[in-house]
Amino acid sequence: MEHLKIVASARQLPELQVTNQELSNIMDTSDDWIFSRTGIHQRQIVTTENTSDLATAVAKQLLDKSGVTADSLDFIIVSTMSPDSLSPSTAAIVQGAIGASNAFAFDLSAACSGFVYGLSVASSLLSTRYKRGLVIGSEVLSKLVDWQDRTTAVLFGDGAAGVLVETTTENVGLLGEQLRTYGDKGDNLVAGRFANQNPFAGEISPVDPYFHQNGREVYSFATREVPAVLQTALKKAEIAADDVDYYLLHQANARIVTSIAKRFGQPVDKFPTNMAENGNTSAASIGLLFDELIESGKVHAGQTIAFVGFGGGLTVGAQIWKI
Ligand code: ACO
Repeated sequence: MEHLKIVASARQLPELQVTNQELSNIMDTSDDWIFSRTGIHQRQIVTTENTSDLATAVAKQLLDKSGVTADSLDFIIVSTMSPDSLSPSTAAIVQGAIGASNAFAFDLSAACSGFVYGLSVASSLLSTRYKRGLVIGSEVLSKLVDWQDRTTAVLFGDGAAGVLVETTTENVGLLGEQLRTYGDKGDNLVAGRFANQNPFAGEISPVDPYFHQNGREVYSFATREVPAVLQTALKKAEIAADDVDYYLLHQANARIVTSIAKRFGQPVDKFPTNMAENGNTSAASIGLLFDELIESGKVHAGQTIAFVGFGGGLTVGAQIWKI
C-alpha cells in the first residue's frame, strides 16, 4: 500500500527584521505590551518581495533539498491570504518561475489554517492519481496591515515555508485529521474587502483592505476548538496524546499555545514556538516552525507530529503525521 511522505521542508524569510522597539518609534506601543500579550519580539517585513517571490524561493530550495527536477512535480499548492493577485494565482507564478511544466497549480485560501488545509488537499491528490507535489504557505501580510492600527500592526510578519510531498511505500504518512470551518463566526477576523464599482452597484458590504479582528473572540475560539479537533484527529489516527512527539501549532500568540497545551493536558515543551522571532505569519507559520525544528534535529524521521492551524474563516484543523 502506498503512503505519503514529507520528503523535504524549506523556509524563506525577508531580510529586514523589525523589533517591537522599532515599532514603538512609529506607533503608540511598547515591547512590554506586545511581548507580554503575544510572545512576539520581532518579525520580518518585506522591502521588495511579494508573496510569489518568497514562495518561489521555498520551491527552489525544496527541489534542491530533495534532488528532484521541477518537471517531476504533479502539483503546486500555495496557501495564502495575501496573494500577489487574484489572477494569476501565486501558485501559478511559482510554477512558471521554477519551470514545473507538468504541474498544475492553484492557491488555497484558508488563512492561518492554510498549511494544514493544503496538506489535506495534497494527501487526497496523492491518494488518487498523482505522485509528487509542493505545499507552500506564503504570506506578505504587511500589505494587509493598517500601519496606523496598533491593535493589528504589531501581530503579523511576512514569510514562506513549505514541504515536498510524495507517495512512498515506507510506513509513514497522514494518520488522521479533523478540519472544521465556522463561517458564521467569520466576521471576527477579516481582511481584503474589495470595492465593487460597477455602474449598477448599489449599497454593498463595507470596503476595507485591512486586517480587523476581534482578538478576544479569536483567542477563545482557538483555545476551545483546537483541543477538540486535536482530540478527534488523534482518535481517527488511533494514537494517544502522549505518543505525539511534538504539537506544531499555528504561531499566532504564545499565550494561546500555552493555554491549549494546558487544556489538552500535555507538557508545554511539546508545543515549541517561534513567534518571538517571526510574529504571526498566517499560512506560513507551521511550515516555518517545522523547517526550523528539522534543521535543528529536534524533529526527525520516525517521530509522530501534530500540525494544527486555526484562524480566519473561522477555520481550524489538526493532523497527526508519522514522518
Ligand atoms: N500597544 C499598546 N496598547 C495596545 C496595543 C498595542 N499594540 N493594542 C491594543 N492596545 C490597548 C488597547 O487600545 C486597549 O486599551 P484600552 O483598554 O485603553 O482600550 C488595551 O490595550 C487592551 O486591548 P485589547 O484588544 O483588549 O487587548 P487584549 O488583552 O485582548 O490583547 C490580543 C489583544 C493580543 C490581540 C489578544 O486579544 C489576543 O491574543 N488575541 C488572539 C488573537 C490572535 O492572536 N489573532 C491572530 C490569530 S488569527 C490569525 O493568525 C490570522
